[in-house]
Amino acid sequence: MVAMDGPSGTGKTTVARKLADRLSAGYLDTGAMYRVVTLAVLRAGVDPADSAAVAELASQVGLGIGTVPGQPEITLDGQDVGAAIRAGDVTSAVSAVSSVPEVRELLVAEQRRIVGRVLGETGGIVVEGRDIGTVVVPDAPLKIFLTADAAVRAARRSSQDTAAGRKSSVDQARESVERRDHLDSTRATSPLRAADDAVRVDTTQLSIDQTIVALCELASQRGMLAPCTAAAEASR
Ligand code: DC
Repeated sequence: MVAMDGPSGTGKTTVARKLADRLSAGYLDTGAMYRVVTLAVLRAGVDPADSAAVAELASQVGLGIGTVPGQPEITLDGQDVGAAIRAGDVTSAVSAVSSVPEVRELLVAEQRRIVGRVLGETGGIVVEGRDIGTVVVPDAPLKIFLTADAAVRAARRSSQDTAAGRKSSVDQARESVERRDHLDSTRATSPLRAADDAVRVDTTQLSIDQTIVALCELASQRGMLAPCTAAAEASR
């Protein structure tokens, strides 16, 4: 089991999915779960700042989340919302929704259920988020905290948005990334922070493949995987 935390734009999602693939493990994107609840809040016309209303709605959300690294299906009431949860309105509101303690309690319980099930089925899982090593699975044998300079994270986020057909500029992305970093790391309930025993990996100067090589090395040190090389990664 690998717990992967860190702020947005560090390459976390891509890296977590590739690592899960390498480990023949399942994959869980907990940020997507907070995004689905946020989408439901917005669609219901509930104010994301109204914690009581958000908490009540969260208990009724029909959330579906897949755990196959190559193709994690994300649904709301049975409908595919993989693209809708990445839209700007959801990204702007997700920090408010994810700061509501009842929402966190509900989703953390669901995340632990999923982790238990996938561990039983495949023997391994890579879980990514903000509080995975500190709260969701604090006994994970490998905890990684990915970081990168804010400017680099903003540039990555902006090019991802552009590639997905969403309007974006580096300045806007930087503002959004820094705003979310601040909200996510200062909230009262399970803020974004590295677990004391997490290994910090700074991806500012690393490509995705180089990051994977570094993580494979950590996984192999813990007996989860044979070491992999940059050349092998580039050819995958
Ligand atoms: O990883 P992401 O950008 O999709 O996450 C969306 C938001 O969800 C992020 O701003 C913080 C929140 N989040 C959280 O509070 N706890 C998690 N375990 C995962 C995400």
